[in-house]
Amino acid sequence: MQPKVAKGLISSLKPWKAAIPPGAILEFGCGTGMLTELLIQEFPDREIFVTDASPQMLEVCKKNIERSELLTNNVHFDILDVNDFTPGERKYGLVIGNFVAHWFKDTSIGLQNLSEELKHGGIILTSFPGNHSFPNWYEYCLELGLPHTANPLPDVEEVLVKLSMNDVQIDYYENDLYQEFEQPIDFFRHLKRIGSHTSKLDKSLSYKQFRMLVNHWKRNSKGVTKIKWHVVYLAGKKG
Ligand SMILES: C[S@@+](CC[C@H](N)C(=O)[O-])C[C@H]1O[C@@H](n2cnc3c(N)ncnc32)[C@H](O)[C@@H]1O
Repeated sequence: MQPKVAKGLISSLKPWKAAIPPGAILEFGCGTGMLTELLIQEFPDREIFVTDASPQMLEVCKKNIERSELLTNNVHFDILDVNDFTPGERKYGLVIGNFVAHWFKDTSIGLQNLSEELKHGGIILTSFPGNHSFPNWYEYCLELGLPHTANPLPDVEEVLVKLSMNDVQIDYYENDLYQEFEQPIDFFRHLKRIGSHTSKLDKSLSYKQFRMLVNHWKRNSKGVTKIKWHVVYLAGKKG
């Protein structure tokens, strides 16, 4: 899912590319570097500041970039936690992050602060799963009377309104992407593998409740577990 969305994000950059003012690029939440690789290939002559809140992820990303032979003097690695970040100089032409903004304490505030780092006319580009993702998870919890423990995902409308109030001209589109698993438990294993199982709400099901959920989901799945990701691509131009 993430590599597909990273590619989509780079493609959605194409119409904006000529409009990006000169200056460095800031990537937030680089993770293992799926977007970083594409970014370095797309902008070989720009300085790129590759960042993540986690020093471990940053190290993994750096190793992957080295392994792909993409590391140049233009590429810098820094720790940056968007939750604790106070915007400083307006020095970037482009600020970009793939599948990260839904992890911020507040998606709108995080993106607003990041947009403050942009030069006049600079572009902020991001993708994240929106609040219409995983509808069947919610439905089955409701049917069983179980708490819905999925992390709340950003409400697109709210993010758009708040960002536009901050002198950012927004363009966006939404795309429903489907992922198939043999059974529901494989979806939860996948969330764990990509690091998305940590609860922001500190809520979890007991083992018995979790078994009830996956068994009910499996009974309703007719052989295959289809998961809907509501993916939001958002581009903004700073005034
Ligand atoms: C799903 S991964 C991102 C994947 C990556 N951007 C890609 O395209 O493959 C989410 C990343 O966001 C980072 N992250 C989470 N909260 C963050 C925050 N508040 N500030 C910066 N990075 C954050 C995590 O450490 C993790 O590496």
